[in-house]
This record gives sequence, structure tokens and C-alpha cells, in this order.
Amino acid sequence: MRLRVLGSAAGGGFPQWNCGCLNCAGVRAGSLRAASRTQESVAVSADGQHWFLLNVSPEVRQQIESFEGLWPQRARHSPIAGILLNNGDLDHCLGLLSLRESHPLVGYATEAVRRGFTEGNVLYKTLQRFPEQLRWETLVLGREMPLLLPDGGAESGLVLTALPVPGKRPLHLETLGAPSPEDNVGFRIRDTRTGKTLAYLSAVAGWSPVVDELVGGADCVFFDGTFWTSDELVNAGLGTRRAEDMAHWPVGGVGGSMKYLSEIRARRVLIHINNTNPLLRDDGPERAELSKAGIELAHDGLELEL
Ligand code: MLT
Ligand code: MN
Ligand code: ZN
Repeated sequence: MRLRVLGSAAGGGFPQWNCGCLNCAGVRAGSLRAASRTQESVAVSADGQHWFLLNVSPEVRQQIESFEGLWPQRARHSPIAGILLNNGDLDHCLGLLSLRESHPLVGYATEAVRRGFTEGNVLYKTLQRFPEQLRWETLVLGREMPLLLPDGGAESGLVLTALPVPGKRPLHLETLGAPSPEDNVGFRIRDTRTGKTLAYLSAVAGWSPVVDELVGGADCVFFDGTFWTSDELVNAGLGTRRAEDMAHWPVGGVGGSMKYLSEIRARRVLIHINNTNPLLRDDGPERAELSKAGIELAHDGLELEL
């Protein structure tokens, strides 16, 4: 299985357009040792020809152009075989609307996530200009399903299982409808040829037995790296919401995810990094601590092979 990180930042990206925090201002000025980052999305492939996107960010056009593997090979073509959504947050699905140039797409999502995107959304009509312009494959929690190639439905060599992990409904749906375990899932993606397994959990509110189950059996784990501390936004004077209010498990500190992940054997990579996170500084003490725990920080363009 091949992986390419298209975007590694949380919603808003790094720097964020309306943010002048120390990190954002520093990366703009070039005074900070840090790389700018686009919003979270990862491409995975078993054969290096057909790619599945894990989330589709508002920056998808630029992300496709940044990676030759996603360039068309004919007058009308895309190597993107499917798009997997792990929740309905706009940083994960807004890019669907940018892929509206009359190209057949396949979306993999739970029913709750699909409905959150499609129902009452007049803009969705732009993806319904012909039958099956965007065809949905419904993810049933805990049920393994093959990821198929769009032309003819041959097996791609990857199989997917979605499992419910602690999280929340997207902001725009918080007051609409009841929360469901389908609102936020983690992915297990297995290469049927090599048996290698990726666990993809880019939004995790905290520990649960399912988090253990996903992380435990994986060869590589991508994990929620949004915030270093709970009160990062509050302390920077940027808001009142703590990491927990936003359903993100902070990385640092006694109860942080770094401590949890430090005991896991798999290759571990943090993704969905918020622009306020001190981990973004390449030469900071937090990054040194992370490295010491054997954990990597994703950056745009990172490629790896399992
Ligand atoms: C999140 O990761 O918490 C969300 O993307 C926040 C948002 O929807 O802006
Ligand atoms: Mn997000
Ligand atoms: Zn900022």
C-alpha cells in the first residue's frame, strides 16, 4: 500500500487566512522553522495507479496538482477511484463540491455522514447533473468492504472497515438531529496482497476500546494531532473552546494521546494539525518530545509505503 499525504493541517490550514497567531504570523514572515500545510487529506493506493482519497479538502485542486499520481492520463480521466469520508466536517468534504466538472465520483461514507452532506443542501445538485455523477457506497459500522475500481468494479486490492470512534457531529449539524455512532469513524484499510494494515483516525475525541482495536492491529497509524493542549485556543486569545469541546484529544500532557501512542509498535503519524499547535515548529521542545516518543508529524507531500 502506498500513501501520500496531500494535506496535513486541520480546518483552516496553516497559516489560516484570518489568523495572526505566533505560528501563522511566523510562518508568513519566514521567521519560524515550520512548513505551511493544506487541510487534511491522504491518498492511498494498492497498485500506484488507482488512488482513494481519505477526505477531500477545500484545497483539493491544489493538492491534486501537487501530486503527479493524481494527474489525468487522458483527455478526460482521473486516477481518483473513490473518496472516503470519516466524518462530515467541512474540512473533510467541502472538496467534493470542487470536483464538480461532470466526472463520475464514488463516495464512501456512513449513512449519517452522507445524509449530513446531501440533505437540504442545494449546492449538492451540482454533483447530480447526471445519474450516478456521485455514487455513494454506504459504510456499515464494523463490516469490511472491498474498495472497488470505478470502471467495471474490479477489486482495488484494498479493503475497508469503518468503526465508530469518539467524536461529534459537524459544526453545521450540531443543532440538527441526534448524534449517532456513525457521525465519526476511524478506518482500517488492509492491503489484501501484503496483509499490511493502515489505521486512519484523524478525528478522535478520546480513548475508547474501538480506538484500541483499530490502533492495536495496525502496521501504520494516522492519528488526530489537532491540539497540543486542551486550552491552546483559549490561551492564545483565539476563542473559548477547549480541545475537548471540539472533540479532539490533545497530544501533550499526562492524559494526552502521545503517551498512549508511545506504547504502540506501529509507525505512528499525527495529522490534522491545528495552526496554533506548537508541534508545527520544527525546532520546538514539543516536537523533540514527540520524536523521542517515536511519533512523526505529517507534512504535505509525505509519502510512505506499507
Ligand atoms: C474539527 O476538526 O473540529 C472541525 O473541522 C471544525 C470545523 O468544522 O471547523
Ligand atoms: Mn477538522
Ligand atoms: Zn494561527
